[in-house]
Amino acid sequence: MNPKVLSITAILLWLVSVLVGGFFFVNGQTKMGTDERVSVQLKADERNFVLAEMRMLLDGVQRMTAGLAADDMPKVAAAARAVGTASAADVNPALMLKLPLAFKQQGMAVHKQFDQIADKIDQGAAANEILLDLSEQLGACVACHSIYRLDVDDVQDVE
Ligand code: HEC
Repeated sequence: MNPKVLSITAILLWLVSVLVGGFFFVNGQTKMGTDERVSVQLKADERNFVLAEMRMLLDGVQRMTAGLAADDMPKVAAAARAVGTASAADVNPALMLKLPLAFKQQGMAVHKQFDQIADKIDQGAAANEILLDLSEQLGACVACHSIYRLDVDDVQDVE
């Protein structure tokens, strides 16, 4: 192969990989689930990772309600902060490509919203105002759960 053909081939391959990467970044790795939800296809450990993060969110919500019931606003703020954007930092790139863009956006929005709740408490917001924010926040959990499910892609898991 002469150098020109080689470099054109390299550029084309690069272009294809960018396009394929872009496709997955937006669409993720999904198929229609058995219950009319979009099934995100993951490896077992990736699914475990996302579910562990989910349980952390539930834990945060539980602590926030306990804090609200005890009128302990610093506790509510700390619980919200613990599930804020800082807690969502290290997701591996392979997993990022498998999650649909809308899923990533909704997930990030939920984390950001927890930070905003913590900020509002720091600025002296009243408990009933925070309870309203929390119920809206739970609406976002419910919405995403009604659209997506996570399944293990068996084929991929044999490595
Ligand atoms: C971006 C989408 C999305 C958002 C936002 C989201 N979840 Fe989830 N969550 C999921 C998916 C998908 C599953 C897996 C459901 C399935 O496979 O049936 C899940 C599962 C869970 C589970 C089960 C964990 C396990 O171990 O099985 C809990 C608990 C949970 N979510 C809590 C929450 C809470 C609380 C919030 C809001 C603060 C939330 N989630 C927000 C997508 C989301």
